[in-house]
Amino acid sequence: MIAAERVGVVGAGYVGLTTAACLAHLGHHVRCVDNAGPRVARLRRGVVDIEEPQLAELVSAGLRSGRLRFDTGLGAVTGCALVVLCLPTPAGWDGAPDVRSVTSVAHAVARLVAGPLVLVVKSTVPPGSARALHESLGGDRIDVVSNPEFLREGRSVRDFLHPDRIVLGGRCAAAVEAVAAMYRSVPAPIIRTDWASAELAKYACNGFLAVKASYTNEVADLCDAVGADVTEVAAVMAADPRIGRHFLAPGPGWGGSCLPKDTRGLLDTAGRVGAPLDTVRAAVESNTHHRDRLVRRITEALTGDPDGHLDGYRIGVLGLTFKAGTDDTRDSPAVAVVRQLCARGATVTAYDPACGSRRAAAVDHDGEFQVVDEPLLAAKSASVIVVLTEWPEFRAIDWSAALREVAGPLVIDARNVLDRSTVTGCGFSYRGLGRP
Ligand code: UDX
Repeated sequence: MIAAERVGVVGAGYVGLTTAACLAHLGHHVRCVDNAGPRVARLRRGVVDIEEPQLAELVSAGLRSGRLRFDTGLGAVTGCALVVLCLPTPAGWDGAPDVRSVTSVAHAVARLVAGPLVLVVKSTVPPGSARALHESLGGDRIDVVSNPEFLREGRSVRDFLHPDRIVLGGRCAAAVEAVAAMYRSVPAPIIRTDWASAELAKYACNGFLAVKASYTNEVADLCDAVGADVTEVAAVMAADPRIGRHFLAPGPGWGGSCLPKDTRGLLDTAGRVGAPLDTVRAAVESNTHHRDRLVRRITEALTGDPDGHLDGYRIGVLGLTFKAGTDDTRDSPAVAVVRQLCARGATVTAYDPACGSRRAAAVDHDGEFQVVDEPLLAAKSASVIVVLTEWPEFRAIDWSAALREVAGPLVIDARNVLDRSTVTGCGFSYRGLGRP
């Protein structure tokens, strides 16, 4: 079996850095390579730009112990028999993931490492990628193991160290066992399978989560129409272990850096082989329609007409990140809703605990809306306050003080995160999602 003590990790983004820091924490000697010089320079000083609980601590501990080192050149992994590839696979214009950086780095590493080498592909790649990579590398010296990541933002370290399962797809049993040995101290079942199944499993999971979230959002809209309460309905659904209790919270739509990209990738794969995957296609469409309906609801609440114009209306928004517990606004449904409100003529002032005005440019490239540092500043002169991310701290806002700031006493809580009686007790009208 190949010794797993020296592990290379290529890519120091959110997946790569979590992987490198956690592997060092597990006792491995990790060489983490990223071609972004300034990022590597900061990481060498222990400065972590990614907001993830425990990540900065693990990086510092790894640097102190000498088990974690950062480099810009791939030469750093020369002495590693295991190299984990954590490179981005962004969706192209047609939705197909672009795997070129995985392929080119794999070939470069293969040229650098003289002995036996196992390339571990953590990046999300379409089924068939690992096989194609293996064939293009040629020979028996190098093996490829597909090891998809299931890390949720905001809890990536916990998910890495305490996963529900570890998936290893490969053709060579010795290579799979070498990767299994790398995870020996992680208390999780290991599912050993073939390349394509491991690759597809990642897409299948995220596709299913998208279907579940879209379904929940549609049920919430139905609750509104029939006078039912989605929290009660979801509680009944959650009590059935066949359904499970997660992903049953309605919101303004699902987003983030994974679900939208992976559903597109899955649909692209399905399209290429003529497998319809109608459910996932519907979930994606449903997500767009759901967001549009929310914008229409907000518009109707203000103007009496769902298709009305919002010129002259000021809207206070609470939440810009794609979910609570992260500072990530990539593909955020909250930002998409804000943009639509602005396109209808509204003036939007937004507050998010994780994106202060310093980061406004990163959130709002076109200067369409204003990002403020206090929730009460978002409330100022607002005709409605709209909650778009489920940050628990929104419950603790001084709603009596907010009432003194607003132009109209209406709260639309698109995450059902606020305590209705607190908000109404302070004099606001409250509308949740799927709650009468
Ligand atoms: C996801 C997957 O969960 C993870 O396994 C994968 O590896 C990467 O993609 P993440 O992007 O961090 O993780 O977000 P997740 O917590 O899954 O939420 C995705 C989106 O669904 C968010 O916009 C969230 O707000 C939304 N969501 C989630 C809901 O609208 N309702 C829910 O009940 C749960």
